[in-house]
Amino acid sequence: MSFQRTLITSALPYTNGYIHLGHCAGAYLPADMYARYMRLMGEEVLYICGSDEHGAAISIAAEQEGVSPREIIDKYHADNLDAFRRFGMSFDWYSRTSLPLHKETAREFFLAMKEAGHLTERAEDQFYDPSADMFLPDRYVEGECPKCGSDKARGDQCDSCGAYYDQTELKNPVSLISGKTPEVRKTSHWYLQLGHFQTFLEEFVGQHTEWKDTVIQQSMGWLKQGLEDRCITRDLNWGVEVPLDDAEGKVIYVWFEAVLGYISATKEWAAHNNTPEAWETWWKDSTTRYLAFIGKDNLVFHALLFPAILHARNDGYILPDNVPANEFMNLEGEKFSKSRRWGIDLRDYLSEFTEPQHVDALRYVLAKNMPENKDSDFIWKDFQARVNNELGNQLGNFVRRSLHFLQKQFDGIVPEPEADEYVQSWQRIAEAVRNGTEPQPSAVEVLGPQGFELVSALASGMQRVSQHYNQFRFRDAVLESMNIAQAANKFFNDSEPWKLVKDNKEQCATVLFACVQTIKCLAVVFEPILPNSAQQLRELLHVDTLRWSDAPMPTVAPGTAITDAPILFTKVEDSTIDAQVEKLKARSAAMNLHEHEVEYDIPENVVTFDQVMDVRLKTATILEAEKVKKSKKLLKLQIDLGYEQRQIVAGIAQYYTPEDIVGKTIVVVANLKPAKLMGIESQGMLLAVNTTGGELRLVIPDGEVGAGMDVR
Ligand code: 2FM
Ligand code: ZN
Repeated sequence: MSFQRTLITSALPYTNGYIHLGHCAGAYLPADMYARYMRLMGEEVLYICGSDEHGAAISIAAEQEGVSPREIIDKYHADNLDAFRRFGMSFDWYSRTSLPLHKETAREFFLAMKEAGHLTERAEDQFYDPSADMFLPDRYVEGECPKCGSDKARGDQCDSCGAYYDQTELKNPVSLISGKTPEVRKTSHWYLQLGHFQTFLEEFVGQHTEWKDTVIQQSMGWLKQGLEDRCITRDLNWGVEVPLDDAEGKVIYVWFEAVLGYISATKEWAAHNNTPEAWETWWKDSTTRYLAFIGKDNLVFHALLFPAILHARNDGYILPDNVPANEFMNLEGEKFSKSRRWGIDLRDYLSEFTEPQHVDALRYVLAKNMPENKDSDFIWKDFQARVNNELGNQLGNFVRRSLHFLQKQFDGIVPEPEADEYVQSWQRIAEAVRNGTEPQPSAVEVLGPQGFELVSALASGMQRVSQHYNQFRFRDAVLESMNIAQAANKFFNDSEPWKLVKDNKEQCATVLFACVQTIKCLAVVFEPILPNSAQQLRELLHVDTLRWSDAPMPTVAPGTAITDAPILFTKVEDSTIDAQVEKLKARSAAMNLHEHEVEYDIPENVVTFDQVMDVRLKTATILEAEKVKKSKKLLKLQIDLGYEQRQIVAGIAQYYTPEDIVGKTIVVVANLKPAKLMGIESQGMLLAVNTTGGELRLVIPDGEVGAGMDVR
């Protein structure tokens, strides 16, 4: 089958938190690189994404913060979209599932599913929280995983082992609303009879032998277990209302409608372009190739549920041609974790690393280390090494030294190559390498051994990069791209233009002509990875459009004026990296002290006056302090609250010695529920400032104040 266009989607991120670097490496950067690569190839591409704005996770976040779900989604939609834009994501359209067009689309599919006889209604047991007077959908309950026993398993899925079950199978369930054990009551829901699609899905997955092994294995694993009915409605008041008469208070299960968000987003894009019908070409024309980029936790929904929904519609919808799911990226050896505040949000990175080169640097490091076939790790030291040694010393160095030389010796004007047949010979060699044929000896002679080696490296390197992109091997594509930059440096070194300039200026001119062409080739090959640098080079070389096909060809004309010799990547210093690592650790350490009180990623929250008054802040004098054995972070303090003495344990040992702080008057939360830290009881919490450098500094009252004073 030959395809005429490529539809690309990335998983729609939930709008209850910020995008972090792990998300970027999983479902966003690879899709963006692929979309950019296809556009350079001259293919017609539509890249769709948007916010997933329903689901219990969002209603819970809203409840915890005492705001409406609308406020939550508006905030995160705007923030995530902004971060994505700055990160260089080249979406053609970024939509939202809270839009009416989406709800209409989702309801239409739901009803069609029912019409076709794939839904069945029945009353089943579900957890019910009497104190909140509501049924508890998935994420409103936690408990022990029925399969692996891990605690903190969610209502419908276990993050530890990936098991997927009905919530009443959870052991020792706890309601996240009240913290109490929920009751089991009957409620009526609609179930999708996934079993109807067993054979279809077996054939569908079975015919895609080219998918990643991990994707095939996992999909086949689920199919082997046998597909059971899945409940696709929920008792919630936030979501797409079930379009049936007797369904008040019920919404469509978020996963059923979220995947349809790709279609409604395409409809929105089409309407926006005044071609409202155009969406159908992208979703119903068999010459469209559809690729769904996701993280591994979304696999079941994209490899099985979504194809089943599309197939059931029986209306010509195409199916995913590939589901290039990535594994997870960890951070400094540990999983990204909201609750432990172990993470780097994209927006935080972008607010500290503010230049376009920093976006490219991050994209490069994430791509080089993409969790394609197994989990990978983002390590700050590795980031520094790759930026300095690879981007700086290879790519940046070649561009800088070539253009600097051009400024100095040729006034920045691209010189004519010495031989008349030089350009033509170059083209012939590049063509021959591409076609796998022997290049003409005369052409090889004109270019000389170094020139021949360079052009071969450009043409064959680009072919290898292409092959890697075509197979979704992004790490290899990046590696091979950098090999081209390495070949370019070798050419410069071997040609020794600094010597030629003295005794053979014509030959020197030829070398510089070749260097400029090579820079253009690098601009193309790196465009999917480093869009900002590519654009900078394109503008500098006065190239209108970058195209994959002519990238290795000498298309920059002699006489072109190049006005700058930029340093593409400045060095990342040790101090920068150390500060990032410190910050990460300090944030997580501060979190460990009051883990259950604070949720990572919760936006600025509004509290009432009464809520503030409920917290009793008091001044206290530190009487004694000692380090907690076997802990780097904790100090055990005896404090005087004026009316009584208390013991508190505080995570400040990395910033204060016991001697520093004895005698100081500080501020503490006096009515905090006691908790044990490393087995030691802590009867309060002190206040400290988390500085931008990631350090903790004690909050100390201004002037002479004794212990036991109210702080307001
Ligand atoms: O895991 C997530 O963030 C989901 N919101 C992904 C949804 S992908 C698709 F279904 F929209
Ligand atoms: Zn489990």
